[in-house]
Amino acid sequence: MEKTRNIGIDRIHFYAPKMYLDLEDLATVRNTDVNKFKIGIGQEKMAIISPNEDIVTMAAEAAFPILQGQENDIGLLLFATESGIDYSKAAGIYLHTLLGLNSHCRVLEVKQACYAATGALQLAKDYVLANPHKKALVVSSDVAWYGFETPGEVTQGAGAIAMIVSQNPTLGIVSEGVPIVQNIEDFYRPSFHEVPIVDGKLSIRSYRDLLKAVRPEKAFEFMCFHMPFAVMSDKASEVLTHPLSSEVLAYAKAFNKEIGNIYNGSLFLSLLSLLSYAPPSRLNQQTIGMFSYGSGAIGEFFTITLQPNYQKGFDQNKLLKDFAQRKRIDFQTYHQMMEIYRHRESSLEFTPDFSADNQQIFVLESIHQGHRLYKKR
Ligand code: COA
Repeated sequence: MEKTRNIGIDRIHFYAPKMYLDLEDLATVRNTDVNKFKIGIGQEKMAIISPNEDIVTMAAEAAFPILQGQENDIGLLLFATESGIDYSKAAGIYLHTLLGLNSHCRVLEVKQACYAATGALQLAKDYVLANPHKKALVVSSDVAWYGFETPGEVTQGAGAIAMIVSQNPTLGIVSEGVPIVQNIEDFYRPSFHEVPIVDGKLSIRSYRDLLKAVRPEKAFEFMCFHMPFAVMSDKASEVLTHPLSSEVLAYAKAFNKEIGNIYNGSLFLSLLSLLSYAPPSRLNQQTIGMFSYGSGAIGEFFTITLQPNYQKGFDQNKLLKDFAQRKRIDFQTYHQMMEIYRHRESSLEFTPDFSADNQQIFVLESIHQGHRLYKKR
């Protein structure tokens, strides 16, 4: 029991695609009041991937900066996604090669809508408990694509989170969680279907019901939430025994508003947002409440207790710089990028006709006979 208290997130990083659509531009074309998107739903921007990046390159970009020198320590790689590129081969196998991990490493893809990354984090913790000198790499990488002119279009986004799980972690100790499962048809994507089938209103009700079932009785000064759209965190806070202040909610959703939904990584993007914006004097050695939700559905409440050097567990400057350097694209380019994405994800042969961003380290070079070829630059 004592040992479980010393395992958690050693380092964490987020990769944001280099392009975004401002929701003002989407509102104009969709003939919608921009305040519905920016105030009612709470989103400002939508991250857009380029034709030469996919869930594997995004995961590699997220993991590479925090991994360096630890390639041989990783005994378990868990890749959480609901934007899978293959029903048989785990996306993590490609990632394993790109990152140069040691060949005696277990590699698995895990799925349960937006909850899988939390489930993977808890499994990784158990792995480190059983193998204290090893580390686990947990990645989540998703493209939240709902389709043009759907209610979910405004909540789209893309991005990846990588976390190294170890003993005596630099960032924070992860507690045992309290999960809750219920069979609900709020959001699902049959294997032959290009986009999810979504009942957004049912999903909001189910999210809040599952949170109520596992919500803590005690007050937390800080909490992070799974955020399919930023205002979901306000709707979640309302059902807590001790709701959060609007100031704290603003810290926890600042990054999410800029990116959109990234499915599995969204809860951890909220964590990075909180760590980047809340005053360090208030965060020091705080225990942060975390609520994970994955449609279908599973909810889980757990905590992360920040360690004295937690600021060394993530690179705030790089995150803020990467956000600031993103390029705004117009609606036509967004349309074109998503059309290429749709075509690519159902193609056995594909070669991107697009120059990769100079900052991109990993690129998808081509798809040949359904197999993906990547390059590290
Ligand atoms: N100014 C300010 N607010 C406005 C507005 C305006 N001009 N117009 C509408 N709004 C508000 C509405 O009152 C509503 O607020 P409420 O939620 O407090 O009632 C909010 O904006 C959204 O409007 P609504 O009409 O409900 O939008 P919608 O029918 O397009 O659906 C979602 C919104 C979020 C449900 C939809 O985008 C969706 O399903 N997204 C996907 C969610 C998902 O993926 N869930 C599963 C994963 S957890």
